[in-house]
Amino acid sequence: MAKPRLKPMKILMVGSEIFPLIKTGGLADVMGALPAALSAIGLKVTTLIPGYPAVLAALARSDIVHHYPNLFGAEATLRAGRVDRLDLLVLDAPHLFARPGNPYLDPTGQDWPDNAQRFAALSRVAADLGLGLVPSLTPDIIHAHDWQAGLVPVYLHQASKPAPKIVMTVHNLAYQGQFPADLLGLLGLPPSSFSIAGVEHYGAIGFLKAGLQHADAITTVSPSYAAEIATPEGGMGLDGLFRARADRVLGILNGLDTDIWNPATDQALAAPFDAEHLALRAANKSMLARATGLDERSDALLFGLISRFTWQKGIDLILAAIETIITINGQLVVLGTGEPALENALREASSAHPGAIKAIIGFDEGLAHLIQGGADALLVPSRFEPCGLTQLAAQRYGAVPIVTRVGGLADTVIDANDAALSTQAATGIQFQPATEDGLRRALHRSARLFHDPPTWQMIQRNAMRLDVSWAGPARHYAALYRSLRPS
Ligand code: ADP
Ligand code: GLC
Repeated sequence: MAKPRLKPMKILMVGSEIFPLIKTGGLADVMGALPAALSAIGLKVTTLIPGYPAVLAALARSDIVHHYPNLFGAEATLRAGRVDRLDLLVLDAPHLFARPGNPYLDPTGQDWPDNAQRFAALSRVAADLGLGLVPSLTPDIIHAHDWQAGLVPVYLHQASKPAPKIVMTVHNLAYQGQFPADLLGLLGLPPSSFSIAGVEHYGAIGFLKAGLQHADAITTVSPSYAAEIATPEGGMGLDGLFRARADRVLGILNGLDTDIWNPATDQALAAPFDAEHLALRAANKSMLARATGLDERSDALLFGLISRFTWQKGIDLILAAIETIITINGQLVVLGTGEPALENALREASSAHPGAIKAIIGFDEGLAHLIQGGADALLVPSRFEPCGLTQLAAQRYGAVPIVTRVGGLADTVIDANDAALSTQAATGIQFQPATEDGLRRALHRSARLFHDPPTWQMIQRNAMRLDVSWAGPARHYAALYRSLRPS
């Protein structure tokens, strides 16, 4: 007799950005790729995101599944539609989201003054869906990402109704969503919720803290970061909470969308290649030099860096290492945006070393791919890094990653020490501490390895053979959801 088919588990993802529609960093990559990996193993995933102009523009056809006469100040509609392989629920609330550009910042670079209401609205709608707002869409599990979705469990538990279980994922503790306590009423939170056991966090309303306090499970994006956030040095004020809830905290590494990041088919490259045809990378290195204005030099060790420019990412360490890069006959191409002082300092370093150092200030998906396929090595000198995705892409593209031994970087790159070299396991270079001297030493090490081509190519091949796809991580998430699902 045929076995009865189990109904697929229904997951509602909630987050504030999603590749390819709106992206400021790795969160978007995760939101864009994890649903497909979960669908591939039989789960049904829908993703709730804000209706920014770019999202609504991509949504060619949609069904209105709910109308809110008044959601935090004006009417809003919830639209269901499909974009590429993503099943989306889009919160079309023009008073909150009809603002082009960066999803969090106004055109002067300041946080939008109503960010609390904007992302409380997102969380409110997710909770309503959890409570049966649209019966056909009621999830078994809500998977909430970062502070923007932190109030989901709070709103969910306000109703004394059966509710789905909540997984809360921390992508970066540096962003916690702290708002003034006097917004409590406006956000629909009762005075009783303003306590240590509720939404209160250092005298303010803490969106992420609230989510972590009330979630059924907490994940972060690497096992090492899961350990780091439980320490005073890495916990950014929340380490006590992580220690108290240690039995609920799990580190699951991110994967990479291996369809989008595939060196053998990548249209951004002059010469797509694979591990058996590493020599083809030379054409990409030339194209990268021509595209960015670097001197075309096959003998030089060309370093790449693709990053947001913040303290986290150690961009100041790179600035302090420019002379070392020149000394070792290196070149550097930097792609990124962020703090104006860092952007300016990088521009100055470019002008001081024309042909050897180039900073491209901007967000450019195609150039990011060309750097991965053309640079010899990729720098990721982060002070902390919950997971990091550029070192995953670098390994898949044979750009040897040079990373600090922290968080997800520690978990995904195998340092080229003697043991790892002799067992043909090495995939990159790790260094610590995250200091100017630490980076300089790592640069010298990389130069020695680069000038030993058989060893360098072995590292490249090892890296390219790693499985950095979402298949493994998706299985871990599915197991976690199953463990929470009421039987
Ligand atoms: P984070 O999320 O902390 O910024 P990750 O390494 O997890 O760091 O993810 C960064 C993502 O954003 C990667 O996909 C990377 O390629 C991309 N990225 C960062 N800066 C740029 C840029 N200036 N242009 C294109 N892509 C970028
Ligand atoms: C964050 C982290 C980064 C991580 C990304 C996706 O922005 O800084 O390390 O890879 O989220 O999880």
